[in-house]
Amino acid sequence: MEYLDFAIELAREAGGVLKHYMRREKHVELKGRANLVTVADKESEALVIRRIRERYPDHAILAEESGASSGSESKWIIDPLDGTTNFAHQYPFFCVSIGFEQAGQLVCGAVYDPWRDEMFSAARGEGAFVNGERMQVSDADRLGNALIMTGFSYGVRDKMDIALGQFRAFLFESQGVRRGGSAALDLCYAALGRVDGFWEMDLHPWDTAAGVVILEEAGGRVTDFSGGKFSVYGKQIIASNGKIHDEMVAVLKEFS
Ligand code: IPD
Ligand code: CA
Ligand code: CA
Repeated sequence: MEYLDFAIELAREAGGVLKHYMRREKHVELKGRANLVTVADKESEALVIRRIRERYPDHAILAEESGASSGSESKWIIDPLDGTTNFAHQYPFFCVSIGFEQAGQLVCGAVYDPWRDEMFSAARGEGAFVNGERMQVSDADRLGNALIMTGFSYGVRDKMDIALGQFRAFLFESQGVRRGGSAALDLCYAALGRVDGFWEMDLHPWDTAAGVVILEEAGGRVTDFSGGKFSVYGKQIIASNGKIHDEMVAVLKEFS
């Protein structure tokens, strides 16, 4: 698929920018109390936007650091560096995420981890792949046997009780909980069966657009906290291998 091939190309190129800055001084700026941005975020995003404008000048773009341009039903949704806090601390769990939406439907996406050289990709109806190999979600069929991932938004300090309440509930019910620090990679890890489920509140479209297509194409399921239809423009995500999904919804019920 033309758009997926382009998303993969862009993610790899932008990953090159992250690789370049990975071991260098980071020039960290603060967007909020604990919300960081680095030269790598900005350069990666500038590169991706420039390449999209050259190739598809009419398409809309929604990118974390530069905001949105509209006027087309075809929209690129970009996180130029998902996992900035990890990146700034040299903790090797971050990626580039490029999703593509047409007429309100997510149609394809690529997520690239430059540290491990892992390219996750999927187009609707065509399956999900990691470095060209087909991916499949895990077959854990009970939350009690499952490893779960989550994340905390930059606004977590205003929602400590609810965030820790959810965390506590999953810690109790599952085999373990991990906090990765890159929502896009968390979704790809669920697609690959490295974890069995993921939940988070207050994410943005650029965190999930690509990862959601990848997870669904790997056989997973994505909803909001009540088990209803997921939207990248919504606030809640539960993403799982499908088999433990209803149990995850039940755990989050009291928080939705
Ligand atoms: C963040 C990461 C993190 C998640 C935060 C996101 P950023 O994105 O995905 O895992 O918990 O909610 O904002 O700022 O590193 O692109
Ligand atoms: Ca992000
Ligand atoms: Ca980011």
